[in-house]
Amino acid sequence: MISTAPAGRIGREVISAERLAARVQEMGRQITLDYQGRPPLMVGVLKGAYIFMSDLARAIRLPVEFDFMAVSSYGASTESSGVVRIVKDLETDIAGRDVLLVEDIVDSGLTLRYLRRLLSDRDPLSLEVCALLVREGAKADDVRYTGFSIPPDFVVGYGLDVAQHYREQRGIMVFEPAED
Ligand code: IMP
Ligand code: MG
Repeated sequence: MISTAPAGRIGREVISAERLAARVQEMGRQITLDYQGRPPLMVGVLKGAYIFMSDLARAIRLPVEFDFMAVSSYGASTESSGVVRIVKDLETDIAGRDVLLVEDIVDSGLTLRYLRRLLSDRDPLSLEVCALLVREGAKADDVRYTGFSIPPDFVVGYGLDVAQHYREQRGIMVFEPAED
């Protein structure tokens, strides 16, 4: 199958690569302080969180471990389907572990609510959430570490996609869908 670019274009930059890098370093410092003596198991939510988690893991000065989950809540559109489905589960038994769930963006909070319930049921010692982006107005009081709060525009870059495109962009940019 030939992959076609989604209808629309990249608009203004919302967060530059430099600001992302600086904020990720700060988050890493905070997590390092908070997890002294109990290095967390970082659980990245694929695919969106993988670039963020890669930088964050190296900003944390602790011997962290990695695992990944893949869930699907959006199809190829920019609208939530309202349905969360596990595409790939963890390989690690998280019982008794300090788990740090790493998300790209908390938008409606649906994915996070679902994942929190799922992982809590597996009896981790602790479960905290680290999200690079939180949508302004999203219910995110249970997000322990937040990178940036962002306005309603749909964004791409630094791991975030629209229909699997633009994840490789170095900054966070607005995606402007084509008018039809
Ligand atoms: P929620 O379940 O509504 O909080 O949506 C969370 C998921 O939707 C994220 O993990 C992203 O994959 C996706 N998402 C939400 N907003 C955006 C966006 O602006 N750009 C790219 N993906 C987004
Ligand atoms: Mg995602």
